[in-house]
This record gives sequence, C-alpha cells and structure tokens, in this order.
Amino acid sequence: MSDFEHVFEAPPEGAAADWTIPQDWAAYTEVEHSTWDTLYARQMKILPGRAADVFLKGLTALDLNTGGIPDFEIMNPKLQALTGWTVVCVPGLVPDEVFFDHLANRRFPSGQFIRKPDQLDYLQEPDIFHDVFGHVPMLTDPDFAAYMEAYGKGGQRAASLGMLQNLARLYWYTVEFGLMQDEGGLRIYGAGIVSSATESVFALEDPSPNRLGFGLERVMRTLYRIDDFQQVYFVIDGIEQLKRETLQDFGPIYQRLQGADDIAIDAILPTDRVFTRGTQAYATKGGRFAA
Ligand code: PHE
Ligand code: FE
Repeated sequence: MSDFEHVFEAPPEGAAADWTIPQDWAAYTEVEHSTWDTLYARQMKILPGRAADVFLKGLTALDLNTGGIPDFEIMNPKLQALTGWTVVCVPGLVPDEVFFDHLANRRFPSGQFIRKPDQLDYLQEPDIFHDVFGHVPMLTDPDFAAYMEAYGKGGQRAASLGMLQNLARLYWYTVEFGLMQDEGGLRIYGAGIVSSATESVFALEDPSPNRLGFGLERVMRTLYRIDDFQQVYFVIDGIEQLKRETLQDFGPIYQRLQGADDIAIDAILPTDRVFTRGTQAYATKGGRFAA
C-alpha cells in the first residue's frame, strides 16, 4: 500500500537500510500457519468466477497452498523465473520513497506478520496474507509486472513534483481495488478486494457502489476511502489498457491536475462509462459502522 502514514521515521532495529527484515519462516507458530490456511480456503470458495483469470492463474503458478504461510525461499525462485520480481519482508508500512525504490527494482515489500485469529475479516495494516495472496499473483503477469515497476519509478518522479496524492489514487483504484472486464464478465483483480472475503462479493455484486470505466485523469482526481468498502470501483479492459495509459509522460497530466478539482467519491460524470449506477445505500447507512 502506498499510504502516507508510516509508523517509523528510520528503519527500526533489526531492519536493513532498505527497511527489509528476514522472513524468519521457521519462527511462525502453528496458529499463524493455520490462519493462512483458513484464509486461503475461504477465498478459494469465493474467487472462482469472481477473480480475473490472470489472478487465478498466477495463484496456481505460485503454489501458495502447500500448508501454512508460504516460505519466500521457495516462492521467490518461481516468481523470479516468471517476471524477475521477488518479495521482501518489511516491518510494516514503509516511507513512500522506500516503497517506490523497492517497486522500481521489482521487489515487492510484504508485511512479515499475519493477522490474529480474531481479525480474519478486517485489519488496518497490510499483513502477509493481504500482501502475498492479494498482490503477488498479479506480479506473475509480465504486463502487470511492468506496470508495477513503472509505478515505482513514477512514484519517485511524482514525489519530486508534489503529485503523490494523485498518483496514489491510481494505485488505489487499480492495484488495490481494480475491477477488470474479463472474457466471462466483470472480475476483481485488486489486492484489497481479492484478499477480503466480504469485499470480494461486495465489489462485484452489491447494488451500492458505482462501477465506472477506468480513465487515467478521472481516477487521479477521485477521492477514496481507506476504512471501508469502496463507493466506486473502476473497470479496466485488461492489463494492456493500464500499460498503454500509463506509458505516456505524466508531465502534462500533472500540470492539468494542478488546476483541477478533486472528484467526490460517489460522483458520476457525464463523461463516465457507467457499468453500474450504485444506490450508495451501504455508505449512506453508515457502512461497517452502521448500528
Ligand atoms: N508514465 C508515468 C510518468 O511519466 C510513470 C508511471 C508509469 C506512473 C506507470 C504510474 C504507472 O510519470
Ligand atoms: Fe496492498
């Protein structure tokens, strides 16, 4: 996640200069391993027919269901052979520039810890289930792999131009909460969705959220929420589209964005391609904080 808050100012004790820590796979407890198994099995009941083919293929290729939390020493060679990416462990959210530097070098930073058994449905900080199950399958796809590396480099540039807020929205509405028009229909591919049992269903089937066609500047102007289900999801035609739209130089786009207003989270513009006009009932009733 590219959030602006982070817990530490400098690498905490035990972390390297690039903020990585050892996975220390042997130290995971039985309970932690079985939490992975529970979450994995639960998602696999939900994802066929809902997750994009590219995600499901990647998941199979990585073989993450061998019992317990994946050992990166076993997973990384498979991923590396496919797209040159590796996964490294970090102690929690890291500063943006550290995050971008990892991505720009095809290293995906993952939380080392796994959620507690009483947090299966919701937790604030990304854990190893979100990071590995949610993000890593997409990194097996060469086009998505290239997009993520480009995002890391683009992040360094956006930071220097003061445009991080806009670029972070692109990450949010694609990498974390993206939908895709697949051969069989609308599918989920964003890591925040595919790693959540409840949002996997909500994102596709609930009448509440808007589902709109992806547009680069549209997305970069749109506010988002980090504490509940999304009120809008953006649909791409395929990963090719993401690559195509983001290969262009963002310089002129950033200039336009400086004079542009943010777009409300529930807005539908005349220029939007509307897949679903949501009722917004879930958000109106207070979302997960509803009585
Ligand atoms: N093309 C973008 C730029 O010029 C970089 C970028 C690529 C950003 C892919 C996000 C994703 O800054
Ligand atoms: Fe994430």
